[in-house]
Amino acid sequence: MKILVATEKAFAPVAITQICDVIEGAGYQLTLLENYKDVSELLSAVSDADALIVRSDKVTSEVLDAASQLKIVVRAGAGYDNLDLTACTAHNVVAMNTPGQNSNAVAELAFEMMLYQARGGFGGKSGRELRGKTIGLQAFGNVGRYVAEIAKGFGMDVYTYDPYVTDDVIKAAGVKVCKSPEELYAKCQYVSLHMPANDKTKKSVGYNLLKRMPEDAVLVNTARKEVINEEDLIRIFRERSDFKYLSDVEPDCKDVFEEKFAGRFIFTAKKMGAQTEEANINAGVAAARQIVDYFRTGNETFKVNK
Ligand code: 3PG
Repeated sequence: MKILVATEKAFAPVAITQICDVIEGAGYQLTLLENYKDVSELLSAVSDADALIVRSDKVTSEVLDAASQLKIVVRAGAGYDNLDLTACTAHNVVAMNTPGQNSNAVAELAFEMMLYQARGGFGGKSGRELRGKTIGLQAFGNVGRYVAEIAKGFGMDVYTYDPYVTDDVIKAAGVKVCKSPEELYAKCQYVSLHMPANDKTKKSVGYNLLKRMPEDAVLVNTARKEVINEEDLIRIFRERSDFKYLSDVEPDCKDVFEEKFAGRFIFTAKKMGAQTEEANINAGVAAARQIVDYFRTGNETFKVNK
């Protein structure tokens, strides 16, 4: 069995060592394609792979067509909007993710950006503190729960809106329940996004929600740029000079922000949320184990396609 790890943004070397231990320990062969620049490199590398581990790398029909031996693809991470699930099913390929494995890293990045912004980028001027401020978590999944824990440590007042989680679970975590996104945005100076990018959520964060945020609003996006309606974001930035946007990856409208809204945003050049050694080990090793387990026992616990 040949297992290909194909990552346009490489895992930490320490994670590769541990992934290798799992794969070779099971008697399989590991092939690495790291930091590739063109999809043609992936098409060629995947041609004899029985299993594929990716991160945000796009697994399209074209990739699956080129992978005639492929039986399973595991997205080492939570969001699987980069996998064409219909095409995976059509090609008889099982698609999985590794939920929860990199969540703490993403939650810490949300705070790293918030702290850097609150202290004016450590430029010498007086900044602001987080204690006593309100934070609203849009979605209370794995990342949202870690953010809540950290926020409570900072003495923040934590709210969430998540129609898929019961009030009891939210309250047991010491978090206040909002009944609608409108209520969440109206109550919270900070709003941190933790929902997946799908047909329901894409472009869902727009003017109608953003305009409700209190003074000195900070929108924190460690989810996906696609959940933002960027035209509406620009509109609110034009109307309100108090508005800030912190985003893990640059929005498509980055040029407008650089030209018009200097000092009011932080954008990472590459998605950095899951880019820690710990998260790379957790997600990468989980992916390798899931593949070994699938080949040995047929375990499909983390399957995400039908
Ligand atoms: C995820 O969905 O798990 C995160 O966005 C991490 O993505 P990455 O593995 O491409 O950094």
